[in-house]
Amino acid sequence: MQMPSTIKVEIKRQANPNAPATTEKFEVPYRPGMNITSLLGEIALNPVDVTGKPTTPVTYDSNCLEEICGSCAMLINGKAMMACSALVDKLTGPNKDQTITLAPLSKFPIVRDLSVDRSVLFENLKTVKAWVPIDGTYDLGSGPRQFPQVQEQRYPLSNCISCCCCMEVCPQFNDVTNFVGAATIAQTKLFNLDPAGAVLKEDRLRALAGDGGIGECSFAQNCVMTCPKGLPLTEAISDMGRDVFVQKVKDLFAR
Ligand code: SF4
Ligand code: SF4
Ligand code: FES
Repeated sequence: MQMPSTIKVEIKRQANPNAPATTEKFEVPYRPGMNITSLLGEIALNPVDVTGKPTTPVTYDSNCLEEICGSCAMLINGKAMMACSALVDKLTGPNKDQTITLAPLSKFPIVRDLSVDRSVLFENLKTVKAWVPIDGTYDLGSGPRQFPQVQEQRYPLSNCISCCCCMEVCPQFNDVTNFVGAATIAQTKLFNLDPAGAVLKEDRLRALAGDGGIGECSFAQNCVMTCPKGLPLTEAISDMGRDVFVQKVKDLFAR
């Protein structure tokens, strides 16, 4: 098959949070195997739109380039995906003449162009104390032992890259519900299963029982279908839903 020389791409741009959004079209030199990050790199090398008008390089976040840092999430052809693992060959179809569209995640404040502020996830993780508490910085010796069965449950949850794709596609993640989203629930399970982290288990479950907590999940399962790291999100949501219920009953009888 004859390879095209260029790829068409349409990018939603916004110079700052208060500027109007515009769309710019580009034709970018094609290379077999290129991903969206390299396509954006080509535009940065020659920031000229499809009409030949000079423009600015497109702003986007990226760091690891191997789907580990979670920073490059954006809407690619309308779907929440990671730019570094989204391959142009797969997105354009067999003839490579379909235009690729790029836009920022829609549920997070815009920083510029394709870069958004995803700090809400980190605030939500603070709410559920998604960490193992340590008592000082001195050597505490080896941690408690972990059963292989527990480790097997924890490992997939530890693969979360904080990309926020699960929150972008969740119908319940919005300003009305203040729902924390699937990633935070999954990290609650990860740290509650940690033999050292379990000391904060009740605090985490009470946080999930509150406003914007697990009760907001409508179990639509968009999250699990979108997660680039394949986290078992629906299983985590159902396990944490059960644990939150048990905690609520315990708290009721402890009054
Ligand atoms: S199951 Fe549905 S409502 Fe619940 S977190 Fe996932 S996408 Fe959101
Ligand atoms: S659970 Fe999956 S989709 Fe959600 S932030 Fe973590 S890696 Fe991203
Ligand atoms: S650049 Fe790190 S996940 Fe894409």
